[in-house]
Amino acid sequence: MCGIVGYVGEDYAVPILLSALERLEYRGYDSAGIAVIEDGKLIVEKKVGKIRELVRALWGKQYKAKIGIGHTRWATHGAPSEKNAHPHTDERMEFAVVHNGIIENYLELKKELENEGRRFSSETDTEVIAHLISKYYEGDLLQAVLKTVKRLKGAFAFAVISVHEPDKIVGVKTGSPLVVGLGKNENFLASDIPAILPYTRNVISLDDGEVAVLTKDSVDIYDFDGVPVSKEVFVVPWDILSAEKGGFKHFMLKEIFEQPKAVADTIGGFLSQDLSFPFDLSKVNRIVTIACGTSYHAGLVGKYWIEKNAGIPVEVIYASEFRYADVPVDENTLVLAISQSGETADTRFAALSAKEKGAAVVGIVNVVGSSLDREADFTLYTHAGPEIGVAATKTFTAQLAVLYLASLLFARRRGRIDREEFYKKVELFSEVTKKMEKVLELSDQIAEVAAKYKKFKDFLYLGRWLNYPIALEGALKLKEISYIHAEGYPAGEMKHGPIALIDENMPVVVIAPQDRVYEKMISNLEEVLSRKGRVISVGFEGDKVLKEKSETFIGIPEVEAEFSPLVTVIPLQLLAYHIADQLGLDVDQPRNLAKTVTVE
Ligand code: G6P
Repeated sequence: MCGIVGYVGEDYAVPILLSALERLEYRGYDSAGIAVIEDGKLIVEKKVGKIRELVRALWGKQYKAKIGIGHTRWATHGAPSEKNAHPHTDERMEFAVVHNGIIENYLELKKELENEGRRFSSETDTEVIAHLISKYYEGDLLQAVLKTVKRLKGAFAFAVISVHEPDKIVGVKTGSPLVVGLGKNENFLASDIPAILPYTRNVISLDDGEVAVLTKDSVDIYDFDGVPVSKEVFVVPWDILSAEKGGFKHFMLKEIFEQPKAVADTIGGFLSQDLSFPFDLSKVNRIVTIACGTSYHAGLVGKYWIEKNAGIPVEVIYASEFRYADVPVDENTLVLAISQSGETADTRFAALSAKEKGAAVVGIVNVVGSSLDREADFTLYTHAGPEIGVAATKTFTAQLAVLYLASLLFARRRGRIDREEFYKKVELFSEVTKKMEKVLELSDQIAEVAAKYKKFKDFLYLGRWLNYPIALEGALKLKEISYIHAEGYPAGEMKHGPIALIDENMPVVVIAPQDRVYEKMISNLEEVLSRKGRVISVGFEGDKVLKEKSETFIGIPEVEAEFSPLVTVIPLQLLAYHIADQLGLDVDQPRNLAKTVTVE
């Protein structure tokens, strides 16, 4: 994890590095630092805590450097502290490095370097990179980096500057993300596109095994043998406005409210995409969906749709479990790899291992040009725009849209529905965005519900069928941002265990739209009531029965049963949001989490 940035150009580097780091803070925020070269000397500034602590520490310092690198950290090796914060340098302060990912053989390298008399000042794996570059430097920074890279094992990206070549940044990518931004008389390096969006939309995505050398007027890319590589420049369609809060208190709230648009844009994007897959869909006899976190929950909903509409059996597996299990996949298996960022290590590596076994991999990705986008055989895009809040919201409903449309596409390619039926269903599905708009109007009412329940320490979320994954997602949202223990459960399974937990101290969130499992949900609700459970229900607004039986009822507009997850999830996102906000917690950057997890 962690975020890295680099700037070389004609402007002062420090404000640019800090503002880029702020936009990368979602990748980790336990410490931050920068290194710049001024008057031929390396200056390093670090601070524990968020970027604002670093900004405060730099007030009044007025550095005039025009080249620098920066880092925001999510600790893996070594506790969050100033000495473990990046950038790391060699002892003579000639080279500074910022790094994202893990150097797996760092202990062995550290021992070797210590035996050679080099002294380390941190507990990080990163520091070995600075020492190795210093060891191999013979007047050419690129060559020293190439020699260093050959010694390192793991998945990582890093950037380095040196007082010996003060006009140059060298960036390396293998495993972790890294993009180059092209400006006029300036160039940028960053872990992710939003970091550099205010400065440029012209971007080169580095592939694994590539090194970029940036000066203010040039960008050259090489492979790890030093052979030049030619790369395409692509123009990012997002603009900076969509990455700012636009009047909302938090990014998460803004993103919850953007969901109708995210879904509409995703439908539009899907219909205008060239959907000629590079493999024969009619040969697919099984789908394996791999994903993590919220994306995994989207995959669970997608399973129901694909099995019903396309008749293909679907298995949904956590990517981290897939990789080390012996899940049979072959050339007749389609692997759906779902990842908002396209950079989650677990998902990427699982997808690559499936590819090796001959399976076709289709990515469902929000970030164009991300690693998974490039590694998959084909990508279906969510057009949700940049998501900054660590807890995923709009990318979840956008993933649902892609999965529903994919289920129709698979059905059509397998001759289960014709063109006319396909478009009829798409049209019907598009109507769901209006229902989503309506639910958003409940935000103030849900804020009152939050006030009533925020003091409780444990929550249970129950749902069946399509709303079972929504129960999981509702519970995950609450855990992530409110730090309140919550469990999502298939309502029918409650009697096999969790029912023992129910008492007046355990609010139970029941998701019960009037669909084919409604009666069963009501029975489960009764079971909760007879154990003095407190029921918060989400159901159709005219449902008097559900309303009467619930301590708190959240009425949503009636929606086709098949599409209900896109609507029922919104009150649960809002409930988690308002509880966290009322508890005074950091909604957009909850403790211990990061938006994109690029370590296993
Ligand atoms: C992290 C985030 C989650 C996200 C998960 C998967 O854990 O905190 O919100 O759902 O990663 O991310 P992805 O980018 O692969 O969808």
